Amino acid sequence: MKKDDGKVTIFDTTLRDGEQAPGCSMTLEEKVMVAHQLERLGVDVIEAGFPIASPGDFESVRQVAAGVRRPVVTGLARCVEADIERAAEALQQAAHPRIHVFLATSRIHREHKLHMSRSDIVARAVRGVEAARACVRDVEFSPEDAARTEPDFLKEVVEAVIDAGATTVNIPDTVGYAVPSQFAELIAMLRDEVPNIGRAVISVHCHDDLGMATANSLAAVRCGARQIECTVNGLGERAGNCSLEEAVMAIRTRRDYFELDTNINTREIMATSRLVTGVTGVQVPPNKAVVGRNAFAHEAGIHQDGILKKKSTYEIMRPEDIGRESGELVLGKHSGRHGFRARLEELGIELSEEHLQHAFEKFIELTDKKKEVYDEDLEAIVREEMEEVPRVFSLESFHVTSGIGVIPTATVAVEVSKEGLRTDAAIGDGPIDAVYRAIDRITGFRCELRDFGIRAITRGKDAMGEVSLEVTSNGYTERGRAARTDIIEASAVAYIAAVNRLHKRMQAGKSDAERPHGM
Ligand code: KIV
Ligand code: ZN
Repeated sequence: MKKDDGKVTIFDTTLRDGEQAPGCSMTLEEKVMVAHQLERLGVDVIEAGFPIASPGDFESVRQVAAGVRRPVVTGLARCVEADIERAAEALQQAAHPRIHVFLATSRIHREHKLHMSRSDIVARAVRGVEAARACVRDVEFSPEDAARTEPDFLKEVVEAVIDAGATTVNIPDTVGYAVPSQFAELIAMLRDEVPNIGRAVISVHCHDDLGMATANSLAAVRCGARQIECTVNGLGERAGNCSLEEAVMAIRTRRDYFELDTNINTREIMATSRLVTGVTGVQVPPNKAVVGRNAFAHEAGIHQDGILKKKSTYEIMRPEDIGRESGELVLGKHSGRHGFRARLEELGIELSEEHLQHAFEKFIELTDKKKEVYDEDLEAIVREEMEEVPRVFSLESFHVTSGIGVIPTATVAVEVSKEGLRTDAAIGDGPIDAVYRAIDRITGFRCELRDFGIRAITRGKDAMGEVSLEVTSNGYTERGRAARTDIIEASAVAYIAAVNRLHKRMQAGKSDAERPHGM
């Protein structure tokens, strides 16, 4: 194997495998923002997308490659010339470009998906790696569904792609089928029996279908894997990927066992998790390891007693080591523009002067309604400010009547660009439904609400509620999000944001069916 420096490379695929999952899509601006945060977090490799999949994917890989300097940036490609050329083009401005080529190797994929023989697979994999090497020096190869591939054939493929120039060989458990001891044996077998394995880094990429992605990745590391592919909050196809924060904190907390380290600045973990939650709208379960709301909450009296006497009785990680001290009061009514900007900078958020001014105005409005403003509140304000929502419709005002024994009724006024104010009223099953019906009457869209979620951003009765929703209309689907202290206002603003996006999509004429998908 390559010289072991005791470091495990952290390869983040939040922007590719994570983004590919339903409900996790991000805009270009959001992807670039996440990439900058990943750089601050200290990840070694950022998989920024699958450039051939769509012009949007290409552009995000291109902008991430141009924007970040320290990490390697990689783009995914099938073992197909057009894919590899497109990936190379997207990575042109990368300081450290890598092309990641993949091809399925398991019998089930060979026979039913690819209709290719074993020798065809080896030949195509080798051609893919050679083509990628003709563009960049750093090439990763993934035998998709490796965990279900016959071990002798996997060895043959791995040896062939290393001979062809692959510098990393990634062993994916594509369908989350492996169990830790067996996956560890597979990695040990490759380490011990592939004659040229010393010329490449062994990587692992585990899915969480049976809840074992992190355990499988760590078992592999014990047997020689030196790269873990993972995502923030464990996002990813189906049940998700190995969670970055779990893998990193396990290696750090159990250094006595792994005798390894990563380059991650663990104090940035919480900020990264919150940013990814914010931009995707996918909430972290409260009991999620490391980043869940309750991960450091000690409820049982006996535990609290122990913690008060000595923290390490029940705490194996310090909350501050993952940047969890936030959530403390940071700013209030009298914090000026300077304090506001300084706190954003501390949170790693950079805004243009124009965005900063708008965000500051919203912050001042918020301090009128809410005495204590937390980091999470600031992040919600900034998220909304940064979202590139085309503003054809903007909520001007609304009034609702609701209660027991009355029919929920809403009157809504919406500013329509180039037309002026339109007002309408509707009744509904509840006040939010009534508001949505009134908005539909004004905009002319007949929207079906497919998904609706609301969460309190911080604790306390005066907390802002963040609404995240998905609507469809005429074969188009869009998401909207907004945070306000008034949840009906948040619901209305989020709905209008989604309608504005639908309007833009309809004008461009791209329905969901025409949208290219990841794979
Ligand atoms: O799960 C998988 O096999 C993948 C590969 C493309 C690495 O995502
Ligand atoms: Zn995957």
